[in-house]
Amino acid sequence: MSTIVYVCTTCASTWQNGKKVGTSGGEILLATLEAENGTTNLTIKPVNCMSACSHACCVAFAAPGKYSYIFGDLHPEVAGDILDCARTYDTKTDGMIGWNERPEALKKTLIARLPAL
Ligand code: FES
Repeated sequence: MSTIVYVCTTCASTWQNGKKVGTSGGEILLATLEAENGTTNLTIKPVNCMSACSHACCVAFAAPGKYSYIFGDLHPEVAGDILDCARTYDTKTDGMIGWNERPEALKKTLIARLPAL
């Protein structure tokens, strides 16, 4: 199974009277990632929230038998870096990505790394 890149589409939303209005930052990030992904082994999936809301925008990498990662404070300008890092993750049998293997934009934006089940 390929690596899944979850993208929170609720991140960086604007709310009026309890309703979301306009296009969220997360939706823009999702569209950018999809456009730049091309034909890779990565599957990009939108999700509503990963409970890291104060660090919008957020993405996560996950795959069976591997560590999972959640990154925050991201924006569409670093979509290429997110995809590069996800491709590195995809090559790892355990999912462990060393700090030196992460692009600059994902070095200080790691929120959590969870062990595999
Ligand atoms: S709104 Fe994106 S993590 Fe909660």
